[in-house]
Amino acid sequence: MYVINSPHLIQQVHKNPKTLPFGPAASKATARVCGCSEETINILMTNIDLSQGNQSFVNDVTKAIHAALAPGAIDHMNRAMAENMSRALDGLHAKDGSSKIKLWQWLQHAITLATSYAAYGPKNPFEDTDVENAFWLVHGIPHSCNTVANDDARMIFIADYVFNPRDFKDGILLLLLDIVPSLTAPKAYQGRDVYVTAFEKYFRNGDHENASAVVKARDVFWRKYKLPFKEIARFEIAFSFGILANTVPATFWMLYHVFTRPDILFALDKELHRVLRTTIDFESGVRQHTLDITILKIECPLLLAAFQEALRLYASGTSTRMVLKDTLLNDQYLLKAGSIIQMPAAVVHADSAFWGPDTDDFNPYRFLKPDIKEKQHPAAFQAWGGGHSLCPGRHFASTEILAVVAMFVLRYEMEPVDGVWPLVESKGNLMSGITDPKRDVEVYVSTRKGFEGDVWAYEISDSSNVTATE
Ligand code: HEM
Repeated sequence: MYVINSPHLIQQVHKNPKTLPFGPAASKATARVCGCSEETINILMTNIDLSQGNQSFVNDVTKAIHAALAPGAIDHMNRAMAENMSRALDGLHAKDGSSKIKLWQWLQHAITLATSYAAYGPKNPFEDTDVENAFWLVHGIPHSCNTVANDDARMIFIADYVFNPRDFKDGILLLLLDIVPSLTAPKAYQGRDVYVTAFEKYFRNGDHENASAVVKARDVFWRKYKLPFKEIARFEIAFSFGILANTVPATFWMLYHVFTRPDILFALDKELHRVLRTTIDFESGVRQHTLDITILKIECPLLLAAFQEALRLYASGTSTRMVLKDTLLNDQYLLKAGSIIQMPAAVVHADSAFWGPDTDDFNPYRFLKPDIKEKQHPAAFQAWGGGHSLCPGRHFASTEILAVVAMFVLRYEMEPVDGVWPLVESKGNLMSGITDPKRDVEVYVSTRKGFEGDVWAYEISDSSNVTATE
């Protein structure tokens, strides 16, 4: 196994998608986590290396996903998410003072419902609390992990990279290890069954016909490759994981850091007020505030910088590639066929050679330096991965996270119940792109003075030419 921590070499890996592809390792992991049958694994692995032309199940489905999640194409799904999120935020508006919530718990539920509704449509299986709980049981959370890094060489070969199953709680990682999962990961295993039963019914009943473009685009290939409903339902676990697992912690961390830094909170409020549109209904006298998330992505650089900084600090994903043929990387390193490459984002993100001496601090202003584009290595920011498998969901995720954080800043005061914000540490997490917090934070959320009784709405104008962060 090779571990690569140098942005320059990571970029070289991304330039070799044929010999160092994402598909084979990701597909094997998906099949194990989702519990796919032998027949499905055969379909999944047929021509996975594209040695017999460009057509394969994985290639077909991946292309469909990327097209359906592109800027502009994603607007419809973004609007459905925003409509739902708006309702959840309205629910925080306590007439007689403040609501007391656990921040992580609230975000997890609100984001799960808004996102899954946007993806799966009005017959969304996540509306059933049992399915929501089952999904998060499959996710599970590891206690700790063994990581290996060599900052000097930034590239090392590891003969023996040992996972200790006892280090991990019941959840996705144990499903991935696939050692009698019914015994080693009983909660995740049962959760997977509940999820699969609900989604099998959803697809069998044709409920996905009113779903988002991305769910329908994939359905074309489920039928082309004649996948049984149960196997389609199994695959959906991976997609649900993609749309939910990283957005919840990314939103949590961004809110946590913004609200624990009064200077940043103040500056963001000022910046956001410049794009907020306020009108008054002359009959009722009620003020309505509208926030266009597409405009916000263009005109709120500090908000974008705070978002990037949260991703930089908490990206814990490790991109994996298989070496299909001997490959000379950078005319320097010979990668032997049959090996695996691991590229942990956290190591690059913590490298002071790229990010300065304060890499442990939340400092959005590092992304606002006028010369960052010229001076920064383009692959030093790895939160979305890179190359052909650069996260296609980043436009949707950015819209959702920025929408939630912007509304919290504009609309609400948020104070910790204990009077002072606790220090929240993150958990090591091998399976997620963004690491989870070790604890929840209980907070009072109340409408800001001067805004009582006002109405708030999101708008999403055409985003065809707009990206938030790359
Ligand atoms: C903060 C939120 C998110 C983060 C940090 C994130 C991160 C990533 C990363 C790092 C990769 C590349 C993995 C690799 O190269 O090894 C990836 C791939 C992917 N992501 Fe995301 N993601 C997020 C949200 C989403 C959302 C909301 C969706 C769907 C709407 C999504 C769908 C996907 C898909 C389908 C792939 C595989 C792409 C391919 O096979 O070409 N992600 N994501």
